[in-house]
Amino acid sequence: MSAASTDMTVRIGSLELPNPVLTAAGCGGTGRELAPFFDLTRIGAFTTSSVTTQPRAGRPTPRAAETPAGLLTAMGLPGPGVEPFLERDLPWLVDRDVRTIVSVAGNSVEEFAEVARRLRGVPNIAAIEVNVACPNVADRGRMFGWHPGAAAAVVGAVRTHSRPGTPVLAKLAPDVTDIARIALACVDAGADGLTLVNTMEGMAIDTATLRPALTGVSGGLSGPAIRPVAVRCVYQVHAALPDVPIIGVGGVDSGLAALEFILAGASAVALGTTLFHEPGAPLRVLRELEDALASRRVAHLADAVGLAHKPAGYVPPRVLPLPPDLTEGAAETAEAAVSASVSAAEAPGGPSGTRTRPASRTAADAAFGARSGRADGRPGSLEGSATTWEARIAAPARPRRDDAPAPDPAAAETKERLP
Ligand SMILES: Cc1cc2nc3c(=O)[nH]c(=O)nc-3n(C[C@H](O)[C@H](O)[C@H](O)COP(=O)(O)O)c2cc1C
Repeated sequence: MSAASTDMTVRIGSLELPNPVLTAAGCGGTGRELAPFFDLTRIGAFTTSSVTTQPRAGRPTPRAAETPAGLLTAMGLPGPGVEPFLERDLPWLVDRDVRTIVSVAGNSVEEFAEVARRLRGVPNIAAIEVNVACPNVADRGRMFGWHPGAAAAVVGAVRTHSRPGTPVLAKLAPDVTDIARIALACVDAGADGLTLVNTMEGMAIDTATLRPALTGVSGGLSGPAIRPVAVRCVYQVHAALPDVPIIGVGGVDSGLAALEFILAGASAVALGTTLFHEPGAPLRVLRELEDALASRRVAHLADAVGLAHKPAGYVPPRVLPLPPDLTEGAAETAEAAVSASVSAAEAPGGPSGTRTRPASRTAADAAFGARSGRADGRPGSLEGSATTWEARIAAPARPRRDDAPAPDPAAAETKERLP
């Protein structure tokens, strides 16, 4: 099936993008650093590092540490400040027709408003993204994004002082009690869309120095480790605000990871940490996402947005025609390939606890498309991908006689050891 057959255009408020793969704030430098790896005009949009009123050196080093499945950073938003940004960095992007989302930050409502005022005169900004994961000096350094009122105050200030017609996005932190409530406050304050999520607070301790690994003690965790948290945030916010466009961020490193966010309710995705080890990843992820959608017979990316919220059996309104080469026999072969790869993953000596990718991604995708096909050529269900592995996870736990908590074996062992 031709990947080009899926319509990949997306809308984020009034902003129309040719495709949904973006870079995340702070991870693509000024754009010049990524330009040798791919043509920046081919992605949906480039997002700048957060811009502040004054130059900032950021935190002293060490300000980054590797953790098992993610990166821990406490950079302190280093940057030249808004003036050099407007003189040097933004013109470089705009002159090359790079769709540019400008991220703004500050430590007070007034600072956010000031950056927005400075940007107001610039016509070619695709959108402004408000980084509410910033410490608020007026509130003992607590993040704006932790509180609906504080988040709304900065978003409202940026909206008021920005050029009318420029979409304003609110970028939220995931480690809050009720992200949908904060999202709603930001939308009420004028946000046209939401970027979900920023890093989540974590900590690592250096066992050689016996001290925190970062000078900032704690830092922001990013990368694959936070993807399930980010997907959950997107899912919850899309459920509460289905008409508000969302950019999903957090551990996107493949087309299927991007698809997860889209199914949860994101209209677009942005790559952050992945860029540090694979700067050319955005175009690979875009290609993989196109293939994944086409093999699932999704004709328009927009139809896949939030599909995971639909009941089983729901059929998107527009589907690609069943490819002629996907005969019943071919479908059975593909199905067998998926089962074989799942069995291999479960075999003794095979990986345990984590799902391995099917041996043949193409076969798996073909199996999905075929399994969901009906005699009339329309898919029966986009939910037909359950494997034996997934079925086992989904199987209800053995019923207990009452609702008493299950005995904790660790506690029992501790008790035994007590004198
Ligand atoms: C080194 C680094 C710098 C970042 N700088 C910013 C920034 O300036 N503004 C912002 O809103 N988010 C910033 N972020 C957060 C990312 O944009 C993104 O939300 C987060 O890393 C999660 O995505 P990922 O797992 O793909 O990296 C930064 C993240 C990293 C790792």
